[in-house]
Amino acid sequence: MKKSIISPMDITVDELGALMDLADDIMKYPEKYAHACDGRILATLFFEPSTRTRLSFEAAMLRLGGKTMGFASADSSSATKGETVADTVRVISSFADICAMRHPKEGAPAVAAAHATIPVINAGDGGHHHPTQTLTDLFTIRSLKGRLDHMTVGFCGDLKFGRTVHSLIRALVNYTDVRFVFISPRELTIPDYIRNDILIRENIPFEEVSRLEDVLPRLDLLYMTRVQRERFFNEEDYMRLKDSYILDKKKMSLAREDMMVLHPLPRVNEIATEVDSDPRAVYFEQVRYGMYIRMALILTLLEIKVD
Ligand code: CP
Repeated sequence: MKKSIISPMDITVDELGALMDLADDIMKYPEKYAHACDGRILATLFFEPSTRTRLSFEAAMLRLGGKTMGFASADSSSATKGETVADTVRVISSFADICAMRHPKEGAPAVAAAHATIPVINAGDGGHHHPTQTLTDLFTIRSLKGRLDHMTVGFCGDLKFGRTVHSLIRALVNYTDVRFVFISPRELTIPDYIRNDILIRENIPFEEVSRLEDVLPRLDLLYMTRVQRERFFNEEDYMRLKDSYILDKKKMSLAREDMMVLHPLPRVNEIATEVDSDPRAVYFEQVRYGMYIRMALILTLLEIKVD
């Protein structure tokens, strides 16, 4: 595997399979891994807010016996004094064995990886990529559906700025017979580079629609996303688009008995809380799978083997 993970493309299908097998083993035999990272330190460098990703990385390292340190906002780092990402990671490389970085600017974790002497994991960069969310999503799907191929996958909501969507599409095109249905308002459709450079170029079947109800009965998997206030330049546009889709019990009644609903979270209004008790709603389970796959990633990048 590459030294740093910046995009889902940095992990091959075989490496992904090995990571998920390792995560499965960690879930089954956690005590076997409880001291695997004794003496190792993970730094979490979060220049943008996070609940799940940062704490999931920290929980992963702590459960492996390692320690963590870091900052949870740019305001509490020397970025406020003008320090560059390159200088920050040069410094962190002296303190930690591995780091996870979230940054509002696309490409910042790639710059960090070029200057660090330790592995850098992109924990989300602007509207670009979020590879460990993709690992989480894939591991959840494989664990609960038993496969990653032969599926119709619906993505709904903010498909323009949603980095989790872009990363997951990139990863799923590697599997056989995966078809996509993109459900969004006209203003929030998938970016051209995804449409032209990935889907059309690789001959992947996809359609773009605006009504969720029309396509729900055909989906094996529905990936809901939040309309992200922080990515809009204009509050008026956000207010107009924020409640474009609300998944509720009535809409769920149109879906198949075995359709799974995923969401990277946080959710705002796009899934009514009445859906949470539906067995097809797996977004809170998804978070747990995320911790185990991050444990597997940390072990793999640190080249730690447990017998
Ligand atoms: N899914 C996700 O990235 O959540 P956080 O923003 O809370 O980390």
